[in-house]
Amino acid sequence: MLTDQDKKVFVKEKFAAISPRYDLLNSVLSFQADRYWRWVTTRELRSWPTGPVLDLCAGTLPLSLELTRQASKRQVLAVDFCEDMLRTGLRNLGADRRRPRLQPVVGDGEEIPARDNAVWGVTVAFGVRNLANTQKGLTEMHRVLKPGGKLLILEFSRPRNRFFKPFYNFYLNKLLPRLAGLISGDKEAYDYLASSIAAFYEPEELVTMMQRAGFAKSTFRPLTMGIVTLYVGLKG
Ligand SMILES: C[S@@+](CC[C@H](N)C(=O)[O-])C[C@H]1O[C@@H](n2cnc3c(N)ncnc32)[C@H](O)[C@@H]1O
Repeated sequence: MLTDQDKKVFVKEKFAAISPRYDLLNSVLSFQADRYWRWVTTRELRSWPTGPVLDLCAGTLPLSLELTRQASKRQVLAVDFCEDMLRTGLRNLGADRRRPRLQPVVGDGEEIPARDNAVWGVTVAFGVRNLANTQKGLTEMHRVLKPGGKLLILEFSRPRNRFFKPFYNFYLNKLLPRLAGLISGDKEAYDYLASSIAAFYEPEELVTMMQRAGFAKSTFRPLTMGIVTLYVGLKG
């Protein structure tokens, strides 16, 4: 039985190992749909074009970059506990003009290094599933949001369409780990991806947990046949 600490060590090591190939793998394995999913997520914050936003589990910064692309004055605090992921993202960014508006910080999503009521938006793309204690993370996201602010969680889910499901499961459990193993040299990381998706909460359960964390108004909407789900929570 893995303790929370064991899971954190495992997740951090896995992401450190695949960090140089993470962006490539994302694009190839999702057939570039990941770009669309991050665009849709970021669009939800268009009412807050200037206020600071926290991108949690920011990884190699793809969502942080989309957040700064869609609003030319927005500041983004990008937090991740895997320094290698953040460093890879910064290296790939080079001299991009958006760099001054990005503030990368190494920190834990279950103890967010930000004060109470600090940001107008919190985004988490493909990160919540990796937290060791999801409820603790959600409570922290609520704490750092300003009243009236918005939480956006983009996460993998399990398609429910009975015709599509077998194809997707074959891809996720059989093809994807092999392809990813070939590209990254680390098949185990993508076996973990499949098993963590299988073990993750149903959307209705995650919404209940968001409500328990204080997001009284919480909703979800499946994207791309339910391969991913976008969750929206408002801090009252
Ligand atoms: C699948 S990547 C997602 C990266 C990025 N958000 C994206 O859209 O591609 C998940 C990230 O969550 C980070 N992570 C997992 N648990 C974390 C925690 N407790 N605190 C901070 N970051 C965490 C990992 O280090 C990894 O970089």
